[in-house]
Amino acid sequence: MDSNKRPETMVRITTPELAAAFIDEQIAAVKAQVGDKKVLLALSGGVDSSVVAALLIKAIGKQLVCVHVNHGLMRKGESEQVIEVFKNQLDANLIYIDATDRFLDLLAGVDAPEKKRKIIGGEFIKVFDEEASKLEGISFLAQGTIYPDILESDGVKAHHNVGGLPEDMQFELVEPVKLLYKDEVRVVGKALGLPASMVDRQPFPGPGLGVRCLGAITRDRLNALREADAILREEFDNAGLNQTVWQYFIAVPDMKSVGVKDSKRYEGWPAIIRAVNTTDAMSATIEEIPYPLLHKITERITSEVEGINRVLYDLTPKPIGTIEWE
Ligand code: XMP
Repeated sequence: MDSNKRPETMVRITTPELAAAFIDEQIAAVKAQVGDKKVLLALSGGVDSSVVAALLIKAIGKQLVCVHVNHGLMRKGESEQVIEVFKNQLDANLIYIDATDRFLDLLAGVDAPEKKRKIIGGEFIKVFDEEASKLEGISFLAQGTIYPDILESDGVKAHHNVGGLPEDMQFELVEPVKLLYKDEVRVVGKALGLPASMVDRQPFPGPGLGVRCLGAITRDRLNALREADAILREEFDNAGLNQTVWQYFIAVPDMKSVGVKDSKRYEGWPAIIRAVNTTDAMSATIEEIPYPLLHKITERITSEVEGINRVLYDLTPKPIGTIEWE
């Protein structure tokens, strides 16, 4: 039987009970596969790798070695949350690498979107590889592959996966959620006790804020983007829009306009709000965001974020606009 094919008899996991049964089954399978050997996992903090980490911690505890690479393009608070949940709460064997300078130095002056993606993906593999070679006795590599990844593996997503690892890595794979759809992974994550803010999060591109800090990335503009994005997310959460809007974020282009702040000329970047709904990311529609909320977000971003002096709302559906700006 093809182990990469979901059996037609497999029931969709929709309840905590079904999730608990799946977890028990996978714990036994992982234990049988791994024995007393060590397993390595690149833990990005996204839904899939987080659920795999929580599952494997339950199955094999400290035999799992998680590596979290902070490429400096994470959203505000993300790496901190990975450390808090996995190291502090779940007592995981977690190696945290702050590689911000490596990534941002390599990206300096690079403005072509695909080149930026290649640099980020390539450097990610390098950092992870270097870390893996320092560790002894690793026999397995765990991955948060999910069923749509298998179904789409010859399709659009290939170039998207920053977490793609070198093909010459000599590890056997452990992929406990590879037959699950995304909604099932979330149900399993909740049953494993992961926080909703981790399990229900919106999709976030592997290259992170790198493709939202448009053109050549600078640290000051990246910081402005990160702060503005955090305000947008906070306000959407407070208004309950995180339940109804599929993906929402800020992009900051590499251009300035004139403004006035404290009675003085204030040149700043615009923060562009993107908030879309979709089922498959192939096409997307624009959400009706209440005007009072847009005003509030504008007020907060322009007063709280250094370097931003305008807020714009992108009304373009996909097609013609892609969801990301680059
Ligand atoms: P686009 O911009 O193509 O985005 O309409 C469709 C979905 O894919 C996400 N996206 C990416 N995800 N690496 C990723 O992992 C990438 O390079 C990348 N580019 C776009 C985007 O956020 C949206 O959900």
